[in-house]
Amino acid sequence: TENGISVTGAGDSLDKRMSEGEEETTLTTRQGHPVTNNQNMRTVGNRGPATLENYHFIEKITHFDRERIPERVVHARGAGAHGYFESYGKVGDEPISKYTRAKLFQAAGKRTPVFVRFSTVIHGGHSPETLRDPRGFAVKFYTEDGNWDLVGNNLKIFFIRDAIKFPDMIHAFKPDPVTNIQDNERFFDFCSNSPETLHMVTFVYSPWGIPANYRQMQGSGVNTYKWVNKEGKAVLVKYHWEPKQGIKNLTQAEAEAIQAKNFNHATQDLYEAIERGDYPEWELFVQILSDDDHPELDFDPLDDTKIWPRDQIPWRPVGRMVLNKNPENYFAEVEQAAFGTGVLVDGLDFSDDKMLQGRTLSYSDTQRYRVGPNYLQLPINAPKKHVATNQRDGQMTFYVDQAPGQNPHINYEPSSLNGLKEATKSAEEYKPYIEGHLVRESIDRTNDFKQAGETYRAFSDFERDDLIYNLVNALSTCRTEIQEKMIELFTKCDEDYGRRVAEGLKQHGNSNHHGPLGATSTHEAVKEAERKGHR
Ligand code: HEM
Repeated sequence: TENGISVTGAGDSLDKRMSEGEEETTLTTRQGHPVTNNQNMRTVGNRGPATLENYHFIEKITHFDRERIPERVVHARGAGAHGYFESYGKVGDEPISKYTRAKLFQAAGKRTPVFVRFSTVIHGGHSPETLRDPRGFAVKFYTEDGNWDLVGNNLKIFFIRDAIKFPDMIHAFKPDPVTNIQDNERFFDFCSNSPETLHMVTFVYSPWGIPANYRQMQGSGVNTYKWVNKEGKAVLVKYHWEPKQGIKNLTQAEAEAIQAKNFNHATQDLYEAIERGDYPEWELFVQILSDDDHPELDFDPLDDTKIWPRDQIPWRPVGRMVLNKNPENYFAEVEQAAFGTGVLVDGLDFSDDKMLQGRTLSYSDTQRYRVGPNYLQLPINAPKKHVATNQRDGQMTFYVDQAPGQNPHINYEPSSLNGLKEATKSAEEYKPYIEGHLVRESIDRTNDFKQAGETYRAFSDFERDDLIYNLVNALSTCRTEIQEKMIELFTKCDEDYGRRVAEGLKQHGNSNHHGPLGATSTHEAVKEAERKGHR
């Protein structure tokens, strides 16, 4: 295929001998035995009992018993597509080589195949796609230097800034361990004790928390990365995807109307658009800052709860991405796809962003468990280039990734007996200098409320109304202590913000329904918004 992925390809190299009377479509077992009867198990007489040497039956059922693999611990529900990235060869008006030597970016018009997986975060593999949640936006670039994964979300920021808090955060957001019901009280209990979440809460409870579909949403790398040029000099970068289709979000009421009829609407929208040749496209922008701690800013550039203000740090276009091919098989490609923040190519690097560093451990660790230790041998995850390693064996080893001329006895390095050799260095290595005390401390410039207040004020009226309505509804199911803590934090972001949530809760009274995130009852705020024509 144009994208070079073939999930059925493995069998192509196998000997296609057929026994007499067999055709290409003849059903066989995985051992190649033709199956003459797929309707009846082998039994003693046609009323049973069955026998234990029923090979075909036992293989069929026991393989079926193993059809599921563990779903992703987060981002379980997703949809994917293939396409390409095309570089502009420039960053804004400047040659891109000034900032990065990554080969995929160098030449204008150069195309690199990609695979993208969009997702929701909190609920399981078949949960509705209308739920209030960030959306995942993970891109795998199959570059000539190996794979680069840009594992992002639709929103530009995150709830927390230290990876050590991630398991607690996810536990609080996922269903209660006793009732198995997602509970607003646990969500706001965590958030009210983690004030750095306020900026993200402000986005997620507004219509920005329910993108209309996957094609009409932005993407962002969220964490801060680095670019390294030929001289081995680095800058800090943030990545942003902007949809050519425009951005569309849903109010709670709009999402409910869709959810009543269709809980796959986003997957369906993406699949059908690509099938009819209406290929979605995004432009990739970067923001660049010099590689230091920027004391002039009132936030830390490595803090992923902050937006790098666009008016101070311009968005510069570097390329575009088109998705033009649906997966041939959902499980083989989308479910088994494995993205990780550690997957970078020469010219791209990590920053000291503490979330990014923690994430980089987590992804490949979970994938060795979720998919298996040889997940990188699967066609969807394998780079589309020369691979030669001395890694061997393990569950589901599917081939030996040795070089064609390599001595197969030599699965170690160094060796004088025709084993693999280290690559030659093509550019100056990037060698950041690091010194400091080992500590367990938060960053200095936490500034948890200012940008949240700015975001609140920047919303249009209907977005602010929907935010207040959604927060009031969700908080009304929480005990007063948590409501009060949240009101205090909203007030620190913006006085009007805190006041409106407090007033909404007072009006709402004590309807104590413990609904899932975003579950709503008819509420005055919605009626008011309807009167104003917002919905
Ligand atoms: C998926 C961990 C923060 C975006 C995952 C998975 C894990 C994980 C374990 C499942 C991966 C798999 O099974 O293949 C973490 C940890 C985080 C963190 C420990 C914080 C320390 C973030 C942030 C973003 C993000 C800040 C947004 C930039 C994603 C996406 C996926 C994902 C998009 C789904 C990838 C796919 O489609 O397969 N994360 N994550 N995560 N995460 Fe994170």
